[in-house]
Amino acid sequence: MQNSSMKLLIKNAKLVLAEKILEADLLIDEGKIAKIDTQINATNTAVLNAHGKYILPGGIDPHVHLALSTPNGFSADDFETGSRAALAGGTTTFIDFITPKKGQNLIEAYHQRLAEVKLCACDYAFHMSIIEWRKGIQEEMEACVKECGINSFKTYLAYQETIGIQFDELEKVMQVAKLLNAMVTIHAEMGDTIDQLRTKALKYKQVDSIYHAKTRPDYTEYQAIEKIIELVRKTKCRTYIVHVSTAESLNKIAQAQNEKLPIFAETCPQYFTFNASVYQKADPENLGFIMSPPIRTEENRLGIEKHISLGTVSTLGTDHCPFTLAQKQKGTNFAEIPNGAGGIQERLSIFYSRFVHNKQLTFNAMASLIAKNAAALFQLPNKGEIAVGFDADLVVWEEKAQKVKDQKLYSSGDLIIYANEIIQGKTDIVIKNGEIVYQNGILKTDLAGGRYIFRK
Ligand code: URP
Ligand code: ZN
Repeated sequence: MQNSSMKLLIKNAKLVLAEKILEADLLIDEGKIAKIDTQINATNTAVLNAHGKYILPGGIDPHVHLALSTPNGFSADDFETGSRAALAGGTTTFIDFITPKKGQNLIEAYHQRLAEVKLCACDYAFHMSIIEWRKGIQEEMEACVKECGINSFKTYLAYQETIGIQFDELEKVMQVAKLLNAMVTIHAEMGDTIDQLRTKALKYKQVDSIYHAKTRPDYTEYQAIEKIIELVRKTKCRTYIVHVSTAESLNKIAQAQNEKLPIFAETCPQYFTFNASVYQKADPENLGFIMSPPIRTEENRLGIEKHISLGTVSTLGTDHCPFTLAQKQKGTNFAEIPNGAGGIQERLSIFYSRFVHNKQLTFNAMASLIAKNAAALFQLPNKGEIAVGFDADLVVWEEKAQKVKDQKLYSSGDLIIYANEIIQGKTDIVIKNGEIVYQNGILKTDLAGGRYIFRK
């Protein structure tokens, strides 16, 4: 395989550009897209014949939790294994999170998190979590934007006992973010209601995994979104709702978008792939679906599909946060089981198979949802599109019907919720920073390090 400082000429490609498919050649030089033309001839250049295959921009996953610290230990993928899984699945850039401790200075938390990034093969950025409102936080938010290149702030309305905040605190975060022209991203679940339902379920010994879902009913998401929309109307802050899981939430977001409010929605493959029947699966399979929000009814699943097709949803994230079976099995009731599942390697192929293969959406729409929109919303420079001057992060796509588990999977999570899903297409070749990193189903072993992206 070649390396990133060399030139690479890709011949006979179907380039998935923002608005059209262009049959052309593409020249990469020094990790950047140097030229796109119907016919490019170059000497002393490695040549890759794409044989008329579609080429997508490298995926950008705006929502991943690598090495996430929880009471049950760290999430199973660290930056090394998670980024390897990402690359194999066609994701070349992701945005992870910084979660400060209570009272901790945000900039100190940023430096701590940066030090945790080891052997990360993707380019990466962070959302800064605001887990409390306190004196000095406004100035620290400003420093995040100006000194650290972090212009998105994550808030949780769930998890009130640990990192969650109340709506009045959220409003203050939104006011400051508006002044800084930053984005506020929100985990939208009514935390207090959920806590009451969980306490009651545990009191009545309702401990099985289905009670994870029953204690986080649909309305706890769309009621939170209703209140958030009021705050967007009031503050005009750019606001992004992560992992939207119900049809009604998206109906409300669509109405707000019609009003031209600056509100954006992310969903994740699990919410259009599965329905709540997964909680009837035998142990330990059902444990993989303990995540928040939970998997919803079939009606909701269809609603998510509809709103993806309608354009209400801007981005496809994964909320990648796998745990091992051993970690999940430590829980003696649903409330003790760590929340989260993996999906970073599966994201593109699951999306392709449900929407593009059957011609419900175009490759161009796929490129927007998996890369371009995240780059635009979160201001990732030179990312998310196939255009001259952009980073040469590219995915050669191949039609191939197989089960997810029939390919080499790179995540350290051993509870793979998509394992038996039949996909219709997958990454053939992945190019990161001008270098071929994945080919013939195998990832290169000596991968170059990714870089931290300072956003502005
Ligand atoms: O279940 C989930 N989503 N786990 C990851 C942490 C979060 O809530 O985003
Ligand atoms: Zn998350």
